[in-house]
Amino acid sequence: MYEAFFGLRENPFTLSPDPKYLYLSDRHREALNYLVYGIQERKGFVVVTGDIGAGKTTLCRALLSSLNGSVETALIFNSFLSEIELLETINQEFGLPPGTGERSRKRLLDALNAYLLANYGEGKNAVLLIDESQNLSHGVLEQIRMISNLETVREKLIQIVLIGQPELQDVLAMPALRQLNERITVRYHLGPLERADVGRYIEHRLAVAGRGRAAFTPWSYRTIYRYSQGVPRRINAICDRALLIAYTREKVRIGAGLVRRAVRDLGGYGETGGVSRK
Ligand SMILES: Nc1ncnc2c1ncn2[C@@H]1O[C@H](COP(=O)(O)OP(=O)(O)OP(=O)(O)O)[C@@H](O)[C@H]1O
Ligand SMILES: [Mg+2]
Repeated sequence: MYEAFFGLRENPFTLSPDPKYLYLSDRHREALNYLVYGIQERKGFVVVTGDIGAGKTTLCRALLSSLNGSVETALIFNSFLSEIELLETINQEFGLPPGTGERSRKRLLDALNAYLLANYGEGKNAVLLIDESQNLSHGVLEQIRMISNLETVREKLIQIVLIGQPELQDVLAMPALRQLNERITVRYHLGPLERADVGRYIEHRLAVAGRGRAAFTPWSYRTIYRYSQGVPRRINAICDRALLIAYTREKVRIGAGLVRRAVRDLGGYGETGGVSRK
């Protein structure tokens, strides 16, 4: 609603995980490198965890747009699935025909295996990427381990990337999932942005949205960091609200006071951040 006032093409601070807006902080770059490495080197299992709103889904989408045509992908963004549904979804994602007759696990796995062998024969790689993996049931995780067994004598036919909130690590550490846990060769935990990144992150998002004339001051960055603790989703929420307030006051300059007002409107992120207000 304030875009025209600030001369922006679109809203720079929506909460959607649009990879177009990706700001590569050192941590996001590192996470992306781990993902690409795990896939290209056919490491089998890659796990990336990160705090809520840290940018995991955005990273998944950026990863997908960076993979070239020699990698086939199956993406699962809904992790509340049964074992059969998982297999069906994977096969569907890889473009396999649904087949006729009963939907047995064996039939689905055989079809997947045949597809992956043919794909490998064409010199291609395959990736199964599951977001929100912390919600997967043990049965489904066990099924995923079976899928990771699909391999030639030399190489993995499919690379499996599990993305999730930090609880995913606890799930994988459970004794029942030891076999799976021991196969994870690449792991990365995505932390929040550092203080010095906050201004660059905001400027980057403004630039992608058409730059415009909104002017966040250096003091506003510090205040935004204090209340957001560097979590991108919180930064977006605060900036969006700050722009709205500035617009209603017909101002283009956004200082620390205005940011504090925005935080109050949002119910006060600072209280949960446990940071002093000095
Ligand atoms: N590196 C980044 N560059 C640009 N925007 C980012 C970055 N990281 C996160 N964001 C933005 O922050 C918001 C939250 O990101 P995202 O949905 O990817 O987080 P998430 O870790 O998947 O959250 P959840 O734990 O809820 O699944 C989105 O608006 C996204 O565009
Ligand atoms: Mg997400």
